Amino acid sequence: MNLKGRDFLKLLDYTPEEIEYLVDLAARLKEKKKKGELVDVLKGKNVALIFEKTSTRTRCSFEVAAHDLGMGTTYLDPSGSQMGKKESMADTARVLGSMFEGIEYRGFEQEKVEELASYADVPVWNGLTNEFHPTQMLADLLTIKEHFGYIKGIRMVYMGDARYNTANSLMVMAAKMGMHLTLCSNKNYFPDPELVKTCREIASTTGASITLTEDAIEGTKDKDVVYTDIWVSMGEPDSAWVERITDMTPYKVTKDVMQRAGKDAIFMHCLPSYHDLKTEIGREKGEQFGFEDLEVTDEVFESENSVVFKEAENRMHTIKAVMAATLGAEF
Ligand code: CP
Ligand code: NVA
Repeated sequence: MNLKGRDFLKLLDYTPEEIEYLVDLAARLKEKKKKGELVDVLKGKNVALIFEKTSTRTRCSFEVAAHDLGMGTTYLDPSGSQMGKKESMADTARVLGSMFEGIEYRGFEQEKVEELASYADVPVWNGLTNEFHPTQMLADLLTIKEHFGYIKGIRMVYMGDARYNTANSLMVMAAKMGMHLTLCSNKNYFPDPELVKTCREIASTTGASITLTEDAIEGTKDKDVVYTDIWVSMGEPDSAWVERITDMTPYKVTKDVMQRAGKDAIFMHCLPSYHDLKTEIGREKGEQFGFEDLEVTDEVFESENSVVFKEAENRMHTIKAVMAATLGAEF
């Protein structure tokens, strides 16, 4: 499998074999890391990490993974570059492309990262846009494969806002990998019909299925994985909360949901999560609306079936695989 020179912008651009190759490469890199084996084969290279939105996991994963591979990193925070304000994406891409061997970009519209990639002649990696979060999917697939031993045929339900980056990407992931995904949400939060159509077309070739339902009882029955995300995403206005709480509360992941899914079902979340009132926003919204938690109860989040921290760790190993493969590292 040769992915050298490729961008990693969305899973739609990758074949199922390429996606599984990246997941398996991540598993090998994880094993090496656990054994303390060095993989610093990309010494002398440098990568730029552009974050127009905040991050804990993605930023740290890129930094640690780049360091483990022997590379240097430059972090550009939302206020730290001229991009978009005084300099276009096209110009930024050509400048950074001349200094760095790869560029990570987290921002708003998917078209921005696509534009960056079209002008930079080095690999560009999407660290999250409004529409897609492809590196998260690789971590999720690795976590699923580690837990169940296989990916194809996995039955997953996603509860919550199904028209944003995480749900969109899960839909593409499921379609490509032959999984059965139910998106369980209020119909005003169903994904873009065009993307659903594309995913169903892919699904018809892989044995996958994509189901959209508003029924939180039927939708959560007999599943291997229950997945959720925060109800108001980065970049959305604070005013979205009022409506979102009303619309999303029926789709909160509770003990009942997990029981309906089945005793062996695992709980997944890309994180960060409002599972208690120990965060500024969680506390503010919890007090305002009279909740102890938002998208998932603390009981589920902290339960034995919750694999959220394994999933978070796997962000690093999978991001390492993406950089290694697209920069042509061999192991
Ligand atoms: N899951 C995820 O992308 O987390 P961060 O926003 O912390 O990077
Ligand atoms: N949907 C969330 C994902 C965070 C990783 C957001 O965009 O904020």
